[in-house]
Formats: sequence, C-alpha cells, structure tokens
Amino acid sequence: MCIKADYLWHGAREREKLLENNCHDLVAGVFRWRKVVNMRIAVVGSGYVGLVAGACFAELGHQVILVDNDPAKYEALDRGECPIHEEYLPELLARNRGTNLSFSNNLPDAVRCSQAVFIAVGTPQAENGEADLSYVESVAREIASAVDDYKVIVGKSTVPVYTSDWVKKVMLLNGAPHGLFDVASNPEFLREGTGVTDFLYPDRIVIGADNERCGNMLREIYKPMVEGEYYEKGDSIVPPPPEWPGKAQLICTSARSAELIKHASNAFLAMKISFINAVANVCEAVGADIEQVREGMGTDQRIGKRFLYPGIGYGGSCFPKDLSAFRVVAREYGYEFKLLQEVMNINAEQRRKFVRKVRAALWTLRGKQLGVLGLAFKGGTDDIRESPAIAIIQDLLAEGCKVAAHDPAAMKRAAEVLPAQSVKMVSSPYEAAENADALLILTEWQDYKGLDLARIRSLLRYPIIIDGRNLYEPAIMQQHGFIYLSVGRPDVVPKEEAMKFRTAQG
Ligand code: UDX
Ligand code: UDX
Repeated sequence: MCIKADYLWHGAREREKLLENNCHDLVAGVFRWRKVVNMRIAVVGSGYVGLVAGACFAELGHQVILVDNDPAKYEALDRGECPIHEEYLPELLARNRGTNLSFSNNLPDAVRCSQAVFIAVGTPQAENGEADLSYVESVAREIASAVDDYKVIVGKSTVPVYTSDWVKKVMLLNGAPHGLFDVASNPEFLREGTGVTDFLYPDRIVIGADNERCGNMLREIYKPMVEGEYYEKGDSIVPPPPEWPGKAQLICTSARSAELIKHASNAFLAMKISFINAVANVCEAVGADIEQVREGMGTDQRIGKRFLYPGIGYGGSCFPKDLSAFRVVAREYGYEFKLLQEVMNINAEQRRKFVRKVRAALWTLRGKQLGVLGLAFKGGTDDIRESPAIAIIQDLLAEGCKVAAHDPAAMKRAAEVLPAQSVKMVSSPYEAAENADALLILTEWQDYKGLDLARIRSLLRYPIIIDGRNLYEPAIMQQHGFIYLSVGRPDVVPKEEAMKFRTAQG
C-alpha cells in the first residue's frame, strides 16, 4: 500500500528501497527511467506556502509528494485543479504533475518514500498571542512513526525559536530512532501573489542546520539554484525579476538562528510599514506629501524604497501573527520587545483612521451606499486572512453602510465572511461605483490603477474617491473633478469644503 504516484526514480537501488518500504503501487505504477533524478521530497501541508514550495522543488527537478490532510484540497489537487490564486502556480503544477509531482493524503507513506520532509502546515495565532504549534506537533508525531532510514525533517512554516528542538524531542518520544533523522529550519520568504517568483529567484536561501550531514542534504536540494544550473537551462516559465544576478545566495546558520531570521525579518518589514504610516500621519497633519517624503527617504540605500508604501496597514496570514508570536517568545526568554507592540498599535490605528476619513467625506454613514475596490489583504492573491479591507468593511457595516464590493480574485472567499444582505459582490469596478455615495480603494491591485475615471465619475452618485492605497495621482483626480482623499497626501477637495475635511478627520 503506498501513494498513488507517477514516479521517476533512477537506479535499481532506489527501486529496491521503495519495495522494501512497501511502496508497491508506486513501483508497479509508472516506473520510468529517466535522467538522473535529484532528491525525493515530501512537503506536508499544501497551503499557500507548501503548494508553492512543492511545485518549485518539482520544477528544480526533484521528486515531490505534496501531502495534505484536508480531503477537499487533496482531491482538488489530484484532479488537476489549483486551489489558490498565485501567479505561475497553475503552470508549474500542470508542467510537473504526474512526472515530478504527486499528491497524497497518506503522510507515513510519503515520509517512507522521501529523504527530506518539509513541514508547511499552518501555525496560526493562539488566543494568548503565541503561535499555535499543535499542527506542527501532530505532524512531527506522525512522521516519527515512519522514519526507517536517514531523513531530514525541515521546518518551512514560520515558527518561534526552539521549534526545531521541540520537533526533535517529540519525534524521539514517538519512536523515531536516534541518529536516523535530523531536524532543520529552512524558512520561507514568499510573498503571496508573487510566491513562485520569490521562491525561484530569492534574495537569499536560509538553511538552519546543526550538523553537516543534514546541512549537506539541504544544500543538495537547492544546488540547482545556488550553482545557477536551473537558470542556465533557460526553459523556466517564470521570468526572472529585473537585475537577477544569475545565482541564488545561500546562508547557512544554526537552526535557532534560522528561526529567528524569519521572525526578525517579518517584524522588521512590518515595522517599516508602520513607520511610513506614522510618517504619513504627520504629513497629513502638516500638509506635506508622503510620496515625496518616501522618495526622499527611500533613495538612501541604507533605507531602501521597498516596503515603504503607506496605506491602511498590513494584513495577511503572516505579519499580524508573526509579530505577536515574536513578542511573546521574546518575553518568554526575558526580553520585553515593546517596539513590536507599537508597530501593531500603529497598524490598528491606520484602519480606524481610514474609517474616520470615510465619515469625514460623507458626514453620516447610516444608509450610505459604498463602492469597494479590493477585498484581499494585498494585490495578486485571493487570500483574505487578516485583510484590512475586510476589517474596514465590517466597521462600515456596523455604522449602517451598504457595500457593493469587487475584487479580481477574493470575492468567493470574502462572501464566506461578509453578510450577503449588506454586501453585494459585483463583477466589475464600474458596477461597484454605480450609484455609490463614495468609492473606496482598499487593495493595491494593479487592475485598479488604470480605471476609466470619466466613466467612474459618471457612475458615482457623489464624485468621492477615498483611496487607502494611494493608487492615483491627486493632480489627475483633481482634473477629473473628484473629491479625492488618500493617505499622507493633501486632500483634493473644492476650496469651500477643505476646512470641513481637515477638522472632521481629526
Ligand atoms: C504557512 C505557514 O505554515 C505559516 O507558518 C506561515 O507563517 C504562513 O504560511 P499557509 O501555507 O498560508 O501557512 O497555510 P494554509 O494555507 O493554512 O496551509 C496549511 C495546509 O496544511 C492546509 O492545506 C491544511 O489542510 C494542511 N494541514 C494542516 C495538514 O496537511 N496537516 C495538518 O495537520 C494541518
Ligand atoms: C510576508 C513577507 O513579505 C514574506 O517574506 C513572508 O514570507 C510572509 O509574509 P505576505 O504577507 O504574503 O508576505 O505579503 P507582503 O507583500 O509582505 O504584504 C503584507 C501586507 O503588508 C499586505 O497587507 C500589504 O498590503 C502590506 N504592505 C506591504 C504595505 O501596506 N506597504 C508596503 O510597502 C508593503
């Protein structure tokens, strides 16, 4: 009994090993001989991270089994569907499915057939703010029972420092033979929406391994990227980003340092966003323009321009929970990381401030019809976890507004959490604007940058746009006759209205 898979191992030794491990279906199934195959990898958890990582490992030439215990997800993948919206992922799945990539819901079998097992299950926020590691623990227990020859177990999910040590302890307690496995950390730095590009063309790959054998196995997995062979082949369907140096940079550390690199990186990026949002608030107070300030700051190479875009605050499945978990773990080990709390406070205030702007523009909110562009927590994804857009809509609904909302990818997911009687999902940005008292831009989708503004103006009941992502130039909005409020930039309002806006926004 083994995984239904279409595997392409090389060499009789590998075949024997599979038979010893009871992988009969696998061997009997489609056992083709092909060029030398790289590593055999299982990725546990086929979510935003696991699915991208698994598809990319397969793209590098490894033999990958993607495991998930959610029957709906596993069956969808097995049928050839791509369950999430992620650029290039459908193409990678189609190209590797049935050759380098297979799907399974049988974790022990997948472990027996693999040399490296990547854990990419969710690590959500628990009620007390720390990371809930129960999925990681239960996966570690199950892996332990299937360790029969040397394997590396790799943490890919974002986890607090010491998780690798805990995974090792849990595995030993559950019967994994000492010396037959190592536990490493290999954090991901993928941004949803550009996850595939981020994986294949990374700024760096971090390998946290506490001994050479385990480090070497991970080095082998990333060798096509680190030595540049994957890029030299020139047949990637994923184009490189501008100024790609041709090889990926590898950083080898201890497992604990790797775990900290991930938490510290996410916390730093979130801090950059909260910093620019705080500066945007000062800009609004003094009548300066955050875009000019951002440009002026960002050209200092020590600061850099990226992740300095002001808006309605960060959301998503990572920053909010990772900041909270990092703060808790620091406290547990004796350091009160107060800066992180302030980053979170600024972020929460940013959403409230946006709602105040809507109120300032419309005076009263009860009964107002609002058009909303964007539901996902950022552009390029269908993910609505911790989406500032959803939180703002919920606040506006609580004030008695009605909403017509559009999103290029996230409407289905958003409809599951927003009440249908007060939020209508519409099929175009123009439909959202129709008869609306104001149009709100809540997600930085590229699609919303090039709207036909004259058409939008003719559809709106009042020519009011409140842009939480600064997608438009105020001067252009002025030319089109809009009242235009954005973040950290002077309002575009007729002179006689200007004082009212300034005082109402507070
Ligand atoms: C990941 C990481 O795990 C998280 O730590 C990181 O900070 C963000 O990205 P993500 O891929 O977004 O999470 O999570 P999700 O989309 O929820 O996918 C997790 C998958 O694991 C799900 O498909 C779930 O069904 C699966 N799962 C969960 C298992 O297969 N086994 C389990 O025991 C638990
Ligand atoms: C993040 C990290 O970037 C990634 O390295 C990590 O592996 C997972 O967490 P992700 O959450 O997918 O990735 O998206 P990201 O692009 O970082 O955006 C997070 C949030 O910050 C979004 O809500 C986005 O709208 C917001 N953001 C981002 C800003 O408000 N301003 C910016 O300048 C950048």
